[in-house]
This record gives sequence, structure tokens and C-alpha cells, in this order.
Amino acid sequence: MTIDFNRRQFIGSTLASVAASMVITPEMALAGALPPRWASAVADVDADIAPAALELIHGKAPAGFTGTLWRNGPAKFRRGTSAAGHWFDGDGLVRRWRIADGQASLAARFVDTPKRRLETKLNAIVTPGFGTSSRKGAVLNGPDDANAANTGILPIGGDVLALWEGGSAMRLDPESLATRGAKTFRDDLKGMPFSAHPRVEVDGSVWNFGGAGKNCVLWNLRADGTLNKAQVIKLSRPSYFHDFTITSRSIVIVLQPWLQEKFKFPLSTGMVWRPELGTQVLVIDKNDLTKQRTFELPTFSFFHLTDGWDEADGTIRFDGCFEADPTFGQTAASALLRGEFIHSPRPMLTQVVLRPNGQAELIASGVEAEFPQSDHRFVGQARRYTTHVSGYRDTPFPHQLARWDWKRGKSARFDFGNDQLVEEFLFVANGSGEDKGWLIGTTLNLKAGASELHLFDAQKLANGPLASWRAHAALPVGFHGAFLRG
Ligand SMILES: [Fe+2]
Repeated sequence: MTIDFNRRQFIGSTLASVAASMVITPEMALAGALPPRWASAVADVDADIAPAALELIHGKAPAGFTGTLWRNGPAKFRRGTSAAGHWFDGDGLVRRWRIADGQASLAARFVDTPKRRLETKLNAIVTPGFGTSSRKGAVLNGPDDANAANTGILPIGGDVLALWEGGSAMRLDPESLATRGAKTFRDDLKGMPFSAHPRVEVDGSVWNFGGAGKNCVLWNLRADGTLNKAQVIKLSRPSYFHDFTITSRSIVIVLQPWLQEKFKFPLSTGMVWRPELGTQVLVIDKNDLTKQRTFELPTFSFFHLTDGWDEADGTIRFDGCFEADPTFGQTAASALLRGEFIHSPRPMLTQVVLRPNGQAELIASGVEAEFPQSDHRFVGQARRYTTHVSGYRDTPFPHQLARWDWKRGKSARFDFGNDQLVEEFLFVANGSGEDKGWLIGTTLNLKAGASELHLFDAQKLANGPLASWRAHAALPVGFHGAFLRG
């Protein structure tokens, strides 16, 4: 295994055309335009938020419910007269929502990245990203100089890791939320991408990937956060994929035909949609990463998948939120920062079935869905429910929390109404059996001008929250979270 060579290849390929892409793009022209009602979903947060109690606005927490909801998301997009060019490129703000003794609190702190330090000093957005051009003053000696640390979160090994898909995980102190620096799992792996979508096994061990073109590093951590193994594999196509999944026996990588044909900034400008190629699924044996099978599916694009499982006859199942094409990632998510809503194909909850005879099929639920989640005690095992956000109506952000029942083919859902933008909700186990537990997550209440924390009984979702708390701050819509009991 030639990790060091591949590490240089990764970093080199990311940086190869930085010099050529030092393009100054037109600055955003929000001035004079009437902001849309959802503008606060992509507004800037100018300072860290000190720990503060939340106001209980509805119901009460179940007795003994104690834990922390960690969340991450971009929250600084504009400096001076300049702005990021894409929703995915704002500075990561880590939010800690804590519930104990019936009370809730919120603290939030930006991840102290080289990007944020430089841009604070210059009072300008200069660092290139997924949809942001490089500008004068950018410093890029490695992927972590562009690391926005804004996408996912993984509490492990005494750190809270703020995750981004193009570089290292960033270590945070769970108490102070201070940044401890980039995580290096092993010296020869320094700076290699550790994606924002790790999969956690029931025993607490972790699988993750880092993708760059046809190169993909597969990570396997022990439950204490130390590295068990890492191996670089070559993919058949330079597919961009934001998430992957696992079953009890396999690692599953969905290779959509959105190809990273060139590495240049903004990264999305080097990505080409080739629908004629179809979507492929690569299945890799966890115990022997050289054992691989490929399945063929009709074309779709996607960001998010759920935990998968194997059936007795070898059939593999998992689901995800699939779109007809990548318009959202290519253009609509950029337009959000300009206050524009570009209609893009809605993500639809869909199950993938991979048969032992090599055939593959898609089972449509027919429901709009993003940020899919499930009871992670069932990772690798057959499960019945997928929780997700839904109800976009004619806006860029969802208004509903829903739970799809794959057995009955129907949803339970709660509509927060047009005033609320709904973020990812996580399942928290309580008792044995799938779906015995709670759903915890956040919303941005546009009318109140505040973010809210909500707790549901997973089996009585349609009844609405058991408890809701309101913060004294409006945080922009974020991406992913993790919940820790205790
Ligand atoms: Fe994601």
C-alpha cells in the first residue's frame, strides 16, 4: 500500500490548478434587492454564542432525558464587499444543544480554521471552495487551507470532530468548543480527506471515506477514535459522492455520473453531469477491500444515504434521497446566497436493492425527502423506518418532519408550517425495538426570528413535539448532527 504516494496525489490533484483559477468573480449584489422570506437561512453569524439557557415554549422533556445534540453548518458567508459563491462554503459553526433536568441550553462557536483566520484578517472572502472562486490574498498550501469544517460532526476519542469532505477532521474541545487543530490519524495520512459522513457501527467503531476523483481512501476507526486501518482504492470513474453506506458485510459506494473530470476552483466547475453513463454501485467487502462488485442502476444524483443491510440470501438494501440531476448542487445552492430560488428536481426517498445475481433495482417511495436518518442500533440489520425532512412546497427549504414506513408504504408527518424551516432530526433510542425512542432536531422559526430545539416521540410524530425550546439567536440552516446521551 503506497499511502504516501497517494497522499501526495490527493493533495496535488486538489491544488493542481489553483494558480490558474485565481479569478476574481463579480461580488454579490444583494444591495437594493428585496431579500426573500427565507433569507435568514443563509444569513451570517458574526460572533460565537456563549452558553445560554433556552426558553421552554411547549410541553416538557421526558423525565431523565439528558444529552447533547451536536450540530454543524455554515454560518459566515460574507465579509466586506465579498461573499462565498455557494451555500457549502461558509465557515463552520458548531452548535451544542444540551438538555438536562428538563432544561435546555445552546452554545455555538466557529471552528478556528486557517481559512477563517485569513479571511477575518483580510475582511474578505478569498479562499476557494465547492462553488467559490479563489481571490487575491488566498493562501493554499494544502487542502486544509480551504477547510471550512462546516458539514458534519463526530464526537469520538475525547474530541468533537468538525467534518468537511475535502480535508482533515478538525478537533474541538467538547466543553469550551475551542479548536484543537486538524486531526492526524497517522503521520503518513496527514491532510487526506476524511468525509463529513462517517458511518458508526453498533460497537462504536467507524467507517468513513475520503474521495478525490478516482482516488478514494477508506478509513476504519476503533470506538476510541484511533485508527484501525486506512486503505486507498481506485474507483472506475471520478464520481463525486458526498455520502456512502455500510451493511454488516460491505462498504457501499454509489457512483453517480456527476464526474470530477477536472480539479479546478470552484470545484463544482470541474464536475460534469454525464447522465448517459447511468449510476453505478460499488460494493466492497469490509474484510478484504480488494473484493469488489459493481451494480448498474438508472441515472440519478444524490447527496445522502441511510444505513444499509444484508438479507439472508445476500441481497443488499439501503435507501437515499435521489434527484433527477445535480441542479441543486451545481447552481441552486449557489443562488441561495444571492437570495435567489432556482427550482431543482426534488430529492425523493428511494430504496436500492442489490440482488446476489448482479441485478439491481430502485423502489420509489413517492415522497420528497432529505437528511434521511434511522435508528442506528439497526445499522447492518433490516429496518422498517426512515425519518427525513419533507414538505418543501414552493420554497428552497423543508417545512415538515416525516417518517416513512417501508412496510406499510406510508408516512407519518408533522408540518411545522410556513414560518419554520426544518433541519435534520436524529433518532435517540429508548427501549428495545426499532423506532422506540425520540426524534431530536432543530428548526429556524422565521416569524420568531429564532432557532428552536424540538423533541418528538418517534412513534407519535404526527402529534407534534413533546417539548420545544427557543433560543435567543437565529442560526442559519445547518447540515448534520450527532447526539450523545448523558
Ligand atoms: Fe451531507
